[in-house]
Amino acid sequence: MKKAIVLLLALAMALSLIACGGTKTATTSASPAASAAASVAAGGKIGIAMPTKSLERWNRDGSFLQKQFEAKGYTVDLVYSDNNASKQVSDIENLIADKVNLLVIAAIDGDSLSTVLQTAADAKIPVISYDRLIMNTSAISYYVSFDNYTVGKLQGQYVIDTLKLDLKDTSKHYNIEFTAGDPADNNAGFFFNGAYDTLKPYLDAGILKVPSGQTTFTAVATAKWDTPTAMNRMQNILASYYAGGTQLDVALCSNDSTALGVTQAIGSDYKGKNSVLITGQDGDEANLKNIVDGKQSMTVYKAVANEAVVTVDLAVAILGGKKPDDSLITSAGWKFKCTYDTKSYDNKKGIVPSYLLVPTVVTKDNIKTELVDTGYYTMGSDGYPKAVK
Ligand code: BGC
Repeated sequence: MKKAIVLLLALAMALSLIACGGTKTATTSASPAASAAASVAAGGKIGIAMPTKSLERWNRDGSFLQKQFEAKGYTVDLVYSDNNASKQVSDIENLIADKVNLLVIAAIDGDSLSTVLQTAADAKIPVISYDRLIMNTSAISYYVSFDNYTVGKLQGQYVIDTLKLDLKDTSKHYNIEFTAGDPADNNAGFFFNGAYDTLKPYLDAGILKVPSGQTTFTAVATAKWDTPTAMNRMQNILASYYAGGTQLDVALCSNDSTALGVTQAIGSDYKGKNSVLITGQDGDEANLKNIVDGKQSMTVYKAVANEAVVTVDLAVAILGGKKPDDSLITSAGWKFKCTYDTKSYDNKKGIVPSYLLVPTVVTKDNIKTELVDTGYYTMGSDGYPKAVK
């Protein structure tokens, strides 16, 4: 019995020494940069807050980030907050209480994190705003995303190219309806504006018409990017404006979760015989299946594996006490394009330095070369691409 107690005590002492060692290296230093440098050597802890598992891409983001941080010797606390903004606040509070050395956050509501991020700033925890810009706080160090306005521009340009729209030929006209994303997500306005600005000359010329008259971001937004919400809205539009045989030519959808709902509504409630041009974004598996089957026309693909690479390299640099800028792009040796932007993203407390990756258009014709041959997806035995996580 005595022997067992002695052994247990020895074990407890050894464990507490390990624990002290970890804590000590992570917190001794006065400046955040220096303490960060120490935590790299010790293998620090990264807190990752993702919005929800119910939107496909965030599962990929979370998994890539976790694996890549772990491969560099960090431990990871990865949380999902069920698309519930107040849950995300308390999840981040818990990460801070757990003494993470750095936070990577994809906000559910970009405007609701100011208070919790002040706590992070007080604890000298650097924060990377991941994919979605966090607003109204000076506590974020950097923003990593894709060029969001370009995502919308690519969708708009795809419509112009596919329908061969020509401002000099006003004899033809096409009907279009817009579906945008969540107003709480700062990206959503960028996507919508990129598409709308690109198509505006054709709308002004009457070549494109919007029978529902819904052309503002607020009118076409989809709370939480929710598929059934997008479906219900499109069903209402079809019933109100297309029931009399009006042809719908284009459904400009900002992303794949909304495109999925819109495609369902068109499948069930649209009476026309033409195939409707439908845009999307992300390369969600269900949407790639629809693209292969000819039910969705395109998606704007964003290689989130690379977005994770940029985030991890940036985090390592921050934790190493550096002040990363555009030189990170060359020193990291990434094989994909990325720009350092110090102009475009103002979160109402100032411009947030941003690393922006480049999105790509994916259609039935290049699905294999862009997604499968590049290794982002494998081709399933059913003939549909499956995302590699
Ligand atoms: C992302 C998109 C995604 C949407 C819904 C946006 O912030 O940039 O890729 O489709 O959220 O998850």
